[in-house]
Amino acid sequence: MLKNQRTNPEKVVEFLGTFALVFLLILFLPGNSSAKVTGVCSNCHTMHNMQGGSALSNYGADGKPWKGTGPNPALLRGTCLGCHGMGEASKIKTIGSSQIPQVYHTDAADLASGNFRYIETGADDRGHNVVELGNADGVLDGAPGAINQFSHDVCVTDSNLTCAGENGCHGKRVLDAGGGLPALKGAHHGNVDGQLNTADSVSNSYRFLLGVKGLENPTAVATEKWQNVNATSHNEYYGATTPQVLGCSGGETTCHIGGSVQSPNNTISGFCATCHGLFHTLTGAGMDSWEGIGSSTSSPFQRHPTDIVIKDSDEYAVANRTYKAQAPVGRTTVPASAITTATANDVVTCLSCHAAHASNYPDMLRWNYPGDMVAGGGGADGTGCFTCHTEKDNP
Ligand code: HEC
Ligand code: HEC
Ligand code: HEC
Ligand code: HEC
Ligand code: HEC
Repeated sequence: MLKNQRTNPEKVVEFLGTFALVFLLILFLPGNSSAKVTGVCSNCHTMHNMQGGSALSNYGADGKPWKGTGPNPALLRGTCLGCHGMGEASKIKTIGSSQIPQVYHTDAADLASGNFRYIETGADDRGHNVVELGNADGVLDGAPGAINQFSHDVCVTDSNLTCAGENGCHGKRVLDAGGGLPALKGAHHGNVDGQLNTADSVSNSYRFLLGVKGLENPTAVATEKWQNVNATSHNEYYGATTPQVLGCSGGETTCHIGGSVQSPNNTISGFCATCHGLFHTLTGAGMDSWEGIGSSTSSPFQRHPTDIVIKDSDEYAVANRTYKAQAPVGRTTVPASAITTATANDVVTCLSCHAAHASNYPDMLRWNYPGDMVAGGGGADGTGCFTCHTEKDNP
């Protein structure tokens, strides 16, 4: 019988059909790739901001300016930091069936972006003093390195920088999107996870950063989501082989795209450059010579380059480097899963050295600089700057 079944062409077709069906099912079953918010509406929304005659309690850390009482836009039971900055001991909180990444918490380990709490426990230079924190930066009034053409240097300041919206980072960054939640409308219920190669809406962009491509750590381990844990479990940042010449006229590249401010080359460094342009742009013909990183992608530079490929020679050679979650490199194509090794297409990004929200070190750096970075010191091999400058610590 068995032999007959194997050779019977009808059975073979039936078998192949079943196989194809199972395969298709596996392909289209909602898996890790979709992480839209789930759970009963009332976990996150309140229809009247009231029950039993009193305001419904909002999420957020007690005593913090973002705790609030509502009502909030989109009928929500919290503001951005209300849900994402509960100030508790875990960096990932659960409401009903949804996990919520925490950007202000007391856990010793952080998510990839860091922890805004360092601005309180350390100093203002530990991070971005978003207005939601209620603590303007005591030193900086605006974004260092902002291109001052058409007053970009006074657009986003330490007293209007927000999580999202016109003067923020997440969502649509345009006047009519307002501040905060309206700029994200639809993103949470439409969130796309994993490999994000299209980035033409807030929900399918990397971490709701409109226009930014990347891989959101696709780990199957729920407690490792939103983190760069190690060489096998981490996000992948998108990088380019050259930064553009940023500006508003002539052959320069503008950041005003499709009714929002966006990273013009879809990279994470191009995103940071929408506010800190002079630290990223090539020095264009119309610029003063002190602006930008220099006029080409070869050494010598006048500012540390980003969006350039790390050359496969000298101390930078692939053979000398390993992938380090501490100093993550970007990649010139967005992979489907985390690449565990250094490659010849690795790119320096702003996030190779900086956290995005806040870190435990001055200048929002990922490691103790200058402290641990001693030329010829021989002590910090393979960490921090030495992840790429592999020979500079050699005694
Ligand atoms: C785990 C939290 C959570 C749950 C549960 C939740 N929502 Fe939302 N919802 C949000 C957040 C956050 C926003 C606002 C930000 C955004 O639009 O991305 C939102 C926005 C909305 C919006 C406006 C934007 C849009 O996507 O259309 C509607 C309508 C909405 N929710 C309806 C619902 C309904 C109905 C339910 C229950 C079936 C529900 N939500 C459950 C978090 C949640
Ligand atoms: C009612 C609670 C709630 C509020 C308010 C809320 N969020 Fe969220 N947010 C969530 C939940 C739940 C998730 C996780 C959804 C998921 O797994 O994709 C999330 C995920 C995110 C993510 C990660 C998306 C990703 O790709 O992994 C970002 C970024 C984010 N929110 C930003 C914001 C910002 C900015 C605001 C304010 C404008 C905000 N959220 C307001 C509940 C909320
Ligand atoms: C929407 C504009 C905006 C974007 C986008 C932006 N920044 Fe900033 N950044 C600012 C402003 C404003 C300040 C000064 C206020 C502050 O530090 O709180 C600042 C300060 C900083 C500082 C100095 C912190 C301190 O207090 O000394 C660093 C480092 C930094 N940004 C890095 C980055 C990186 C890396 C990115 C991309 C992941 C980025 N920024 C994206 C606006 C922005
Ligand atoms: C992710 C990799 C990476 C990290 C981390 C890194 N660098 Fe670099 N750095 C490079 C690359 C690539 C170049 C350009 C080399 C070239 O093309 O000649 C460079 C160039 C330099 C240069 C020389 C610029 C020139 O004109 O040639 C200095 C100085 C420098 N880096 C210092 C540092 C310091 C200090 C740190 C730590 C705060 C650091 N780098 C961290 C990759 C990195
Ligand atoms: C090689 C590591 C490295 C890279 C890559 C890097 N930075 Fe920095 N950044 C530093 C260090 C170190 C400082 C401290 C000041 C200094 O050494 O000039 C700093 C300081 C800053 C500051 C604070 C300046 C001030 O006036 O307080 C900002 C803002 C900043 N970086 C933004 C960026 C942005 C945006 C990018 C990407 C375009 C970037 N950085 C890429 C290492 C780096």
